[in-house]
Amino acid sequence: MKLLDGKKLSEKIKEEVKKDIEKLQKEHGITPGLAVVLVGDDPASHTYVKMKERACKEVGIYSIVHQMPSSISQKEIEETILMMNKNPNIDGILVQLPLPKHIDTTKILELIAPSKDVDGFHPYNFGRLLQGLETFAPCTPLGVMELLKEYEIDVKGLDACVVGASNIVGKPMAALLLNSFATVDICHIYTKDLKSHTKKADLLVVGVGKPGLITEDMVKDGAIVVDIGINRLENGKLVGDVDFENVSKKASYITPVPGGVGPMTIAMLLKNTLKAAYKRIDS
Ligand code: GUN
Repeated sequence: MKLLDGKKLSEKIKEEVKKDIEKLQKEHGITPGLAVVLVGDDPASHTYVKMKERACKEVGIYSIVHQMPSSISQKEIEETILMMNKNPNIDGILVQLPLPKHIDTTKILELIAPSKDVDGFHPYNFGRLLQGLETFAPCTPLGVMELLKEYEIDVKGLDACVVGASNIVGKPMAALLLNSFATVDICHIYTKDLKSHTKKADLLVVGVGKPGLITEDMVKDGAIVVDIGINRLENGKLVGDVDFENVSKKASYITPVPGGVGPMTIAMLLKNTLKAAYKRIDS
């Protein structure tokens, strides 16, 4: 069994992004800018946003966080987005999800200029992703693809199973795998017999948020296992959706949690922000 080390790869990517930003500043006087909208006081969202801010600082991306109380109105968030769409110093806009219940999330995400949609959540970009066109792909699934590439795992022709069908993770993950010619099975909460799907997968990608969902008996011998879940247990320990201890004995490759997909998500956000900033050169 080999570990798919996302922490190590994310550090390498950050170094590359940092060098590219230095070059962009020197040759074009451009400093990439990322605006983050953070609404409410969900502790996990605050932690993620702090990590994103820190990573931006490390590589030389200018970042600004618009922090708003959970009582904020739809209109006020919309006005903030529209303002950032127009701001020439901002290349990427990210709305940390989830938003409070009274907010129409779809409407907010649809307001982000597709050219600044570094999270790849706008339906325009998602449609392009499905069609295999150049676009911003969501950071977590994009990070999974980068991790597989780093370990020279070619997904072409593999039987892949994606467990979880969210707009942020499962659906774009399935699209990216399909674009790379894997045969993709997508499972979700109404899947009748999860094990019958996971068991035949050469590549199993799980992003549900249920600790211990994937047990050793559900995994094919020699499978590549990617765990996107991040769950904090009552004892404070961070675990994924896969029973790592037992599944790792069967897998050919497996991601650890923490240190697998998590750091890759942030590395891809930096990469997408840099990509958005390059658009300034031609405009
Ligand atoms: N909430 C959970 N994951 C994510 C993510 O990748 N991006 C944003 N914006 N919000 C999230």
